[in-house]
Amino acid sequence: MKRTLLTLLAALTLLPALADEGMWLPSLISTRIDDMRAKGFRLTAEEIYSINRASMKDAVVLFDGGCTGELISAEGLLLTNHHCGYDAIQAHSSVEHDYLTYGFWARTRAEELPNEKLNVKFLVRMEEITDRLAAGETAAEIIRAAEAEGTGYKAAVEQMYYGNQQFLFVYEQFDDVRLVAAPPSSIGKFGGDTDNWIWPRHTGDFSLFRIYASKENKPAAYSPDNVPYRPKKHFTISTKGVREGDFTMIYGFPGNTQEYILSDAVAYIAERSDPAKIAIRDGRLAIIAAAQAGDPALRIHYAAKHAAIANAWKKWQGEVLGITRRGTVAAKRDYEERFEAWAADKPAYRDVVRDLKAEYARVTEPYFAREITLETLRSLPAKYTDAERAEELFARREATERSLYRYLFGQYADRCPVQYQVPEFLDGVAADGSVEAFADRVFEEVWQGGATPLSDSLRAGVTRMTKHIGWLLGTDALRNLNSRRLNELYTLYIRGLREWDTTRAFYPDANLTLRVAYGSVAGYEYADGEYHTPQTTLDGIIAKDNPEIYDYDIPQRLRDLYATKEYGRWGVEIDGRRTVPVCFLATNHTTGGNSGSPVLNARGELVGLNFDRTWRSTMSDIAFDPTICRNIAVDIRYVLFVIDRVGDAGELIREMTLR
Ligand code: ARG
Ligand code: GLU
Repeated sequence: MKRTLLTLLAALTLLPALADEGMWLPSLISTRIDDMRAKGFRLTAEEIYSINRASMKDAVVLFDGGCTGELISAEGLLLTNHHCGYDAIQAHSSVEHDYLTYGFWARTRAEELPNEKLNVKFLVRMEEITDRLAAGETAAEIIRAAEAEGTGYKAAVEQMYYGNQQFLFVYEQFDDVRLVAAPPSSIGKFGGDTDNWIWPRHTGDFSLFRIYASKENKPAAYSPDNVPYRPKKHFTISTKGVREGDFTMIYGFPGNTQEYILSDAVAYIAERSDPAKIAIRDGRLAIIAAAQAGDPALRIHYAAKHAAIANAWKKWQGEVLGITRRGTVAAKRDYEERFEAWAADKPAYRDVVRDLKAEYARVTEPYFAREITLETLRSLPAKYTDAERAEELFARREATERSLYRYLFGQYADRCPVQYQVPEFLDGVAADGSVEAFADRVFEEVWQGGATPLSDSLRAGVTRMTKHIGWLLGTDALRNLNSRRLNELYTLYIRGLREWDTTRAFYPDANLTLRVAYGSVAGYEYADGEYHTPQTTLDGIIAKDNPEIYDYDIPQRLRDLYATKEYGRWGVEIDGRRTVPVCFLATNHTTGGNSGSPVLNARGELVGLNFDRTWRSTMSDIAFDPTICRNIAVDIRYVLFVIDRVGDAGELIREMTLR
């Protein structure tokens, strides 16, 4: 009976439900609110975003310029991912105080640790300024005026829909942000790179910080006299948990998507760019992994580097798999053809697809050269710091570093279109007789320290070539395959699409501005006949636990808690067994930058903390497919359980608002 019900439920959620696609601008959320409410949301647009009264946006921050965080107490307590706080945690760690390995729990406010380079930004307001710019005001003037409005104010102008609309974003930036707590990495990074981008997942990917402000509650540089910031709003936490089908909303700062690009660009990504970058990283990872396997100290030394290289490497593989499996290139081509048929008698749009294709043909090669250069020559260290040289480990790194030089020089020679290889490189190879000999000569110079004329001239060549490519493309702002002309054409193309495709819900591409995504808790069909349910539990952690495998070696404390079932108020009954919920899966449209975003229920209460997607669904950066695209969150009850039962930091829970 239960099984039939489950299958039925699974089948229902597999129906291409009205897509949960979209990353919506909070100031325009009133245009989505009916749909949100139809899907279960209970609050109003004003409660999501308001400039007149406290709203949810006042509890969300851009954390460290690339992640999201949220306020969870009236005293400035902030929750984000462990991997977002990683740099801060690492910076405070030493052999005596290894907070990465053992975790960190400030027992008093005085023990909270300041972080020199860390800041958070609240969105004060956003407004469309397309007309003001058209009327002759400059972005610089508008920004200057906005920044003069308040202490710590920062402003930026961002374009939406390739410049069809321009928005001003005004932020309040706080620079005194202190580390409050982090679980041991064996919880916060449980599963490591093995489980990264994978479901089922069991990572307690969270850390806690506190924002400090002046006595007037305004942004201030670090000072021992600063006091905990009193936010306009903090999230209430729901300990009731989630079930499949429940409404979820994510409020955060997605970094970069390209939902409107032509099939040509998707083909470039899936058939050319991603495969080349993956192959280059295969080799880098193999070199680093070999060094790590033979030497425990090198394993630690290269851990962060390996993780960073592996993260995008794995994502790209999933992206290619997703695009291939879903036939995205063909689907986009078909879409373009139907648009062209409609546009055939409309002079404004008749040629735009053809012109876009022509421009892609012109710019793809130099852009590819730029990508290859970044992945090869540009990823090598230009020098080794004195601090590195002083380390006992330095000499033991030589073979690995040399291999990386040889390998990446070789990849550059093989893969970068030759007309974009810099003369300094070609001359050096010619003079030394082989790429490897030239790589050795440059490496030798850099490794020795002191003056590095050869390496300097090579780097100057690369910089010159990069500028040249920027000139060819008409812009230096090259996050994606784009050019000034492409941008202009896309402005037109999107305007045409909006006239033609009246049923499509248009939303601007992610650009690290605040967005709302909404969907529901949902599993998915992972493979033919294999349904993945959306909730994991402590039992799954225990099943993976293995002291022999670094990524799966959990703290003894967790084993003990499992043995005694001393889960306190965090234990739940699932299928007749007592356990603790750990992670859940949902259909929210997210991307990089959404790490640390609050996952909220229908009442706007915090039920989870976003930290990942499944790897084959990272294609949602290009095309969102509701049947497979899923985000991964830590269940807030696991966060509370770890704080309480592992960190023994109940005082932190007491300052939160639980329901
Ligand atoms: N895949 C997640 C995000 O991009 C988490 C990355 C950190 N975790 C890791 N095991 N490397 O970007
Ligand atoms: N872990 C990612 C981040 O750092 C989020 C995962 C994703 O790309 O969705 O933002």
